[in-house]
Amino acid sequence: MSTTKEIKRVTTHVLHEMKQKGVKISMLTAYDFSMAKIIDAAGIDVILVGDSASNVMAGHETTLPITLDQMIYHASSVVRGVERSLVVVDLPFGSYQGNSKEALISTIRIMKESGAHAVKMEGGEEILESIKRILTAGVPVMGHLGLTPQSIYKFGTYAVRATENWEAEKLIHDSKMLEEAGCFALVLEKIPSGLAKIVAESVSIPVIGIGAGMHVDGQVLVSHDMLGINNEFKPRFLRKYADLYEIMTEAVQHYIKDVKSGDFPNEKEQY
Ligand code: KIV
Repeated sequence: MSTTKEIKRVTTHVLHEMKQKGVKISMLTAYDFSMAKIIDAAGIDVILVGDSASNVMAGHETTLPITLDQMIYHASSVVRGVERSLVVVDLPFGSYQGNSKEALISTIRIMKESGAHAVKMEGGEEILESIKRILTAGVPVMGHLGLTPQSIYKFGTYAVRATENWEAEKLIHDSKMLEEAGCFALVLEKIPSGLAKIVAESVSIPVIGIGAGMHVDGQVLVSHDMLGINNEFKPRFLRKYADLYEIMTEAVQHYIKDVKSGDFPNEKEQY
């Protein structure tokens, strides 16, 4: 008899089955060991080590500055905290746009040095060659279309994407192309819900939305946003499940008060 508990890991195959059965997929970001451990134990399906770490963890205005080494550091910390979820890592800006060889080298570093299970890349037809090369090496790829924050200086704004016909048509075309190339899933960020529905119904791979409405196969949010740690970011698509900013501020203020008054530590809290 085995004494170790059996954990059924989430794989790309499991996600595909979930789409077929109509079971919604839950996905959140994590960037460190402790947060990943909580989110994984709570039962999340997919953990994304997003390049949003550039904003959330490092305080940058955009996702552009984060480096491949920094993403590997975050990803390896997350992987050490995870027993069940599928861990997907963003390829950061500048680590794959140059050419497909560079994209593969970056991916191999992430997979070898972090122990993650898949990578995510922003873009459609423009990066098709790189996606194909990574898939040929046996690494699962998640696509990301719609608002792609690594292109923020091209867009000039974080407003809803693909509201015009030409962009909606390109997005549908790119989604089908990513499916055909072999991507195992697709993130759609900040696009009209009607368009996301068309995409989710026209591809067989799971479509995970963020600000893409209710008609997709799953949802992803940045954990610091939905936990209310970050109290400045308030887009319409965000639902806050806690106000940790308030809770943590109160706890820190309480601690300061106890230290100043000499209440902490007490008799039982010393040796
Ligand atoms: O980096 C990130 O957190 C992301 C999500 C917003 C999908 O790409």
